Amino acid sequence: MIEAERRAALEAIAAEVRSCTRCRLHEGRTQAVPGEGHPSTEVVLVGEGPGFNEDRQGRPFVGRAGDLLVRLLASIGWRRDDVFITNIVKCRPPENRDPEPDEVAACAPFLRRQLEVLDPALVVTLGRHSMARFMPGTTISRAHGTVRPADPATGARAALVLAMYHPAAALRTPAVEEASFADAGRITAALEDARARRAATAATAPAGADPAAPREVPAAEAPPAPPPSTVDHAEPEVPASDQLTLFG
Ligand code: URA
Repeated sequence: MIEAERRAALEAIAAEVRSCTRCRLHEGRTQAVPGEGHPSTEVVLVGEGPGFNEDRQGRPFVGRAGDLLVRLLASIGWRRDDVFITNIVKCRPPENRDPEPDEVAACAPFLRRQLEVLDPALVVTLGRHSMARFMPGTTISRAHGTVRPADPATGARAALVLAMYHPAAALRTPAVEEASFADAGRITAALEDARARRAATAATAPAGADPAAPREVPAAEAPPAPPPSTVDHAEPEVPASDQLTLFG
């Protein structure tokens, strides 16, 4: 898929999200919050669900937790436009309560389809609900800062997952904020590991494997340091230096 196709596919999913009535959360929403970001990013951040400000604006992480998320990204030299940001549930749970399992299940196909389109190298989970989707069977206090391969059934077919605390938890507890900055510091290494894994997989793929599959960056070409590349995987080889171009 080229970037324009990815953009269109993401917009088609977003349009479905905006008119979705699959669970009770649609009843109380002002606006659904499908997610936003660069369609060719390598990194997807997954939060829990929209809060008050997100529900008003129809955009993810625009309140105080979003301000902290921007600071966490800035601590590694990234901007929110470098990544794609979305949530487990796309409509605000009343009074910011936790999403119910049936609400999470109803919304899950949207996230899976977003991940299939984006095909990220790295998924960063924000908070325990997001972590539970990608790293079942653990706790956030144990899992934060750790990395494991994503189950392809999530839609992220060749990704690593890094778990982080939710920024709202970091706003409440200084020790969690400190841990969050430490965990953010692990993002770039996790992305480099993820790139190397994808390159190794591509190198061992049988000849004639799916010609429509995303172009992988061979290890020798992989840029030595993030920010996340917005390379168009379906396009011809480009020099590594071009792959680091930031936009905007
Ligand atoms: N908290 C979330 O989990 N997601 C948002 O979009 C905003 C706050």
